[in-house]
Amino acid sequence: MVESILIIGGGPCGAIALDSLLKEGFKNITLFERKNGFGGSWRADVSNDGEYTKPGATIDELDPPIKIPNVLPNKLPKIKQRRWIGSPALYPSLRTNVPERVMLFSDDPKFPYLDKPDQDELTTRDSVEKYVVNYVEKNKDKARIHTNTSVERILKKNDRFEVVWRRELEDEDEWQLEYFDAVIVATGHYNVPKIPYVDGIENFKHGKILHSKGFIADESFRNKRVIVIGARSSAFDSLREVQKFTDDIYWSFKETSNVFKEERSKAKPKTPRLPIIQKYTNDSVILEDGSIIEKPDFIIYGTGYHFSYPFLKEFDSNLTDDNIVNRTYEHIFYIDDPFLTFLGTQVDGISFRVWEYSAILIGRFFKGLIELPSKAEQLEWYENRIKQFGRTRNFHATVNDPALGHIAKLVRLGGGYEKLADGKNFPKFSEKDLEVYESNKRNLTIKWAEL
Ligand SMILES: Cc1cc2nc3c(=O)[nH]c(=O)nc-3n(C[C@H](O)[C@H](O)[C@H](O)COP(=O)(O)OP(=O)(O)OC[C@H]3O[C@@H](n4cnc5c(N)ncnc54)[C@H](O)[C@@H]3O)c2cc1C
Ligand SMILES: NC(=O)c1ccc[n+]([C@@H]2O[C@H](COP(=O)([O-])OP(=O)(O)OC[C@H]3O[C@@H](n4cnc5c(N)ncnc54)[C@H](OP(=O)(O)O)[C@@H]3O)[C@@H](O)[C@H]2O)c1
Repeated sequence: MVESILIIGGGPCGAIALDSLLKEGFKNITLFERKNGFGGSWRADVSNDGEYTKPGATIDELDPPIKIPNVLPNKLPKIKQRRWIGSPALYPSLRTNVPERVMLFSDDPKFPYLDKPDQDELTTRDSVEKYVVNYVEKNKDKARIHTNTSVERILKKNDRFEVVWRRELEDEDEWQLEYFDAVIVATGHYNVPKIPYVDGIENFKHGKILHSKGFIADESFRNKRVIVIGARSSAFDSLREVQKFTDDIYWSFKETSNVFKEERSKAKPKTPRLPIIQKYTNDSVILEDGSIIEKPDFIIYGTGYHFSYPFLKEFDSNLTDDNIVNRTYEHIFYIDDPFLTFLGTQVDGISFRVWEYSAILIGRFFKGLIELPSKAEQLEWYENRIKQFGRTRNFHATVNDPALGHIAKLVRLGGGYEKLADGKNFPKFSEKDLEVYESNKRNLTIKWAEL
């Protein structure tokens, strides 16, 4: 029976997990957040993470597990290792890319403010941060919640999760060990930036190589030559940011990037589109088609992030290979031990709302109100998904499922829309919601194609 539950992370997923578990009637919930406040990736923590991303480095090199002290509990000098906790999104033009009506949790589908209320239902980073902080704080007296507290190792011992956590005090770190019946990992996956290795990149000395994480364009970009790499949101936004300072921009992405191909072909774009970089020299780049861009001043990689769970490395050394959480059922349940769950792995879907369905499902499962399919059936789902999408970011992209198929499956697994005991109901996703979501996607696509 599940009594004590640990939620790791105080971002949107931690917020909805906490609310759903409380409504399900759980009394012994702990939430640990390693930053000094809530909001997750929406929180304005200044960072230079993007400048410290070594091209081609693996997650094990970038974000290795922290060494656990031999004696616990303990108080020890503060650790020095980089933890990649800076905000991924600080540039002033950042706006949400999903309208509030469908992005947010169903019981509070309004941002604290819309900066352009007459135009659409999208908003700024700080409005989302405020929303998430409010959503956690409305429950702050109903659970044990700590910031500055990082989960550093999870093992399974005698049917319980043995958790080592580290709290940052003023002058030292406090280390403790605790046991929980179930765990929700809501740690996000836009923390550790990814820059691919390209032949000769270490020899490039003319310009600066950056990642989009924490990127803000400023006067140093004025009239400079810039290459932006990648074909998704961060690359689009980086392009828009540098367009404010220079016209000498190139946009390089994989020919296989199938995002918005059709719209791209119809648009009259401002920025030349190029194939990917094949090789760097000390001052230039050579592209896959043999052409050369001489002396770029900045190269901005909008090439995404590594999934990284250093605190689970000893639990399962093969848990993730960059793009996916291995052996998870419906992106949530760790198949070999479904009391270890992951919230927020789904990408390109209807974000917060999909995680709300996931959190309700987890709550019903922890409560013993529903059963999951057999392990063999879960593994079959997983293997089929690998066959279909490979070990690529598409594995967790629920947008690839037929319209709302993933949501429908979560509701089915959770016993349907009707109330089970006293907990939270699955919200209804209406035709109108779908229409708003699809229409926003079309608008974005057109805007991006014109960049
Ligand atoms: C630039 C950018 C723009 C985005 N725009 C949108 C958008 O418009 N709409 C949208 O829906 N989504 C957007 N997203 C996706 C965004 O990540 C999600 O909206 C959301 O923040 C994910 O929530 P989460 O709780 O899963 O993860 P996060 O928001 O990343 O929160 C995870 C939390 O867990 C904490 N944590 C991590 N490890 C530990 C540990 N070991 N111990 C304790 N705490 C830990 C982290 O400090 C963090 O606070 C954007 C992402 C980026 C990078
Ligand atoms: N609100 C907003 O407007 C906004 C702004 C920024 C980010 N976001 C969100 O933040 C999250 C992360 O977005 P992101 O754009 O940083 O990452 P992402 O969605 O993972 O996209 C990474 C991009 O880099 C490309 N790429 C990866 N490896 C490459 C390589 N070796 N060479 C060339 N290209 C490579 C990918 O191409 P393939 O896809 O072809 O592999 C993809 O186009 C998403 O959820 C996104 O929606 C939102």
